[in-house]
Amino acid sequence: MKILFVGDVFGSAGRQIVREHIGHLRQTHSVDLTVINGENAAGGFGITPALAEELFDLGADVITTGNHVWDKRELMDYLRSAPADSHERARRVLRPANLQHGLPGFGLYQGTIAQGPEAGTPYAVMNLMGRVFMNGTNDPFYAAENLLKQVSAKVILVDFHAEATSEKVAMGWHLDGRVTACLGTHTHIPTADERVLPGGTAYQTDVGMSGPYDSVIGVEKDLVLQRFRTGLPGKFEAAKGNPKLCAALIDCDPKTGRAHRIQRIMLGE
Ligand SMILES: [Fe+2]
Ligand SMILES: [Fe+2]
Repeated sequence: MKILFVGDVFGSAGRQIVREHIGHLRQTHSVDLTVINGENAAGGFGITPALAEELFDLGADVITTGNHVWDKRELMDYLRSAPADSHERARRVLRPANLQHGLPGFGLYQGTIAQGPEAGTPYAVMNLMGRVFMNGTNDPFYAAENLLKQVSAKVILVDFHAEATSEKVAMGWHLDGRVTACLGTHTHIPTADERVLPGGTAYQTDVGMSGPYDSVIGVEKDLVLQRFRTGLPGKFEAAKGNPKLCAALIDCDPKTGRAHRIQRIMLGE
């Protein structure tokens, strides 16, 4: 069974590069499950319901997010619109599970593969966020334990949205043998450490951004340089140059949920 996970889609350049490549990627690799981190889809800051629908139309089964989840406030009502037991699109947009209590949405989705040779196979997607250099999150390790208790599927993909490589590596070890894949997002820079851990969990510290790489993690580079060099406030804008799609492709056994292989993907001009 093949799982495609696409890293943070950033702005219109990110959406365009995903649109260009995702169809043939899914087809060439006979992908059964597609998960996309969409936290920066709306000009770099958040995701709107309309853009979530766009990513679903491109083939996403589940959309994960991160610290930018509430940048577009209309997402709150969208997430609120889908009850816990629903399988509609709004229910398949996740926010990190370990945010402060009482916020809309869910950090766990459990579904079944819709079509193809693995149709009917149960799967779960979890979205967690780190605490190191990040605000507003509860213990992600404890949150992961709690979520795992709720999951019956063998095939489990975790998007761990975190800043520090150490926290992400630690989460990989924490979940090794208990989830199919633990993939990092948020830094927008792909790491070259993809591997299957001894217990059978596919791991990569950061999958990287799907967006413009002639930028500072997606933002127009001159604006960021200006901020660093003067400390003056200024509006950030999404860059456009050198778009790449960054993703991880995981091959796993649907019966055990163990990964056999993880492949790092970077596509673009
Ligand atoms: Fe991001
Ligand atoms: Fe982020």
